[in-house]
Amino acid sequence: QGMRRLDQLLSSLGYCSRREAMAFVKEGRVKLDGVVLKRSDQRVDSALITVDDLPLEAPEGLLAMLHKPVGYACTHSEDEGPNIYELLPSHWPDRNPVVTSVGRLDKDTSGLLLVTDIGDLVHRFTSPKAEVEKVYLAELDRELDPQLVEIFAKGDLMLRGEEKPCLPARLEIVSPKTARLTITEGRYHQVRRMFASQGWHVEKLHRERFGPHELGDLAETGQPREQAGRVADLLHDLAHHPEALQQLADLHRVTTGAAGDAAGDL
Ligand code: URA
Repeated sequence: QGMRRLDQLLSSLGYCSRREAMAFVKEGRVKLDGVVLKRSDQRVDSALITVDDLPLEAPEGLLAMLHKPVGYACTHSEDEGPNIYELLPSHWPDRNPVVTSVGRLDKDTSGLLLVTDIGDLVHRFTSPKAEVEKVYLAELDRELDPQLVEIFAKGDLMLRGEEKPCLPARLEIVSPKTARLTITEGRYHQVRRMFASQGWHVEKLHRERFGPHELGDLAETGQPREQAGRVADLLHDLAHHPEALQQLADLHRVTTGAAGDAAGDL
């Protein structure tokens, strides 16, 4: 992935400003292959760098899975109450390119959310053409009617104010008031509006799967900034896990250049 200037590398990964990088180095916190570095302007291989004896976090591109709790908005704005970026490990919100969610979940929806700094991945995953499957578990206000299965599967369901019908969706009734719904689009409040169009109110909504990524038993992220370890559990450092990138490439036609591009313009 090439050599980068140490101060630019550390600042692009959110560790510190370029100016502060000098202090980091002076304090002996930065090593290359185990040897303390003396200069912050030298070119280095990011794979060999440690800060406080820890390897750099996803230096060549980041894709992680987050278990979003209810009550957090998918926005970078600080004015809309708690947001998901408060839940990420401390360096991530300061990275450049910026870490963003791949699509969004409503504030009141919990479950699987991908975050990445690879802009290209966001586009490929959220493009309507990609038809990435999203699987939701919904709790309804009253007993489900088996006829909904066919209504959602037909591909002619119109949502209020929209011009095109929803693509066919797969509904599986799990219990009288619980259903699993698989959709391949991502319209605004789509699941809630699909049920609402038929007279049901969604009381609880949870995403279990996004494309090939399953939430599994990943713990819900609790208080802001406390759960770095858990978020990082499912971190794929694309540079160090080329097979993960290959998987994505197979599924979403991402070129293997994506991780390199994400390394930025340095
Ligand atoms: N559909 C919704 O209604 N809300 C979400 O968060 C996701 C899909």
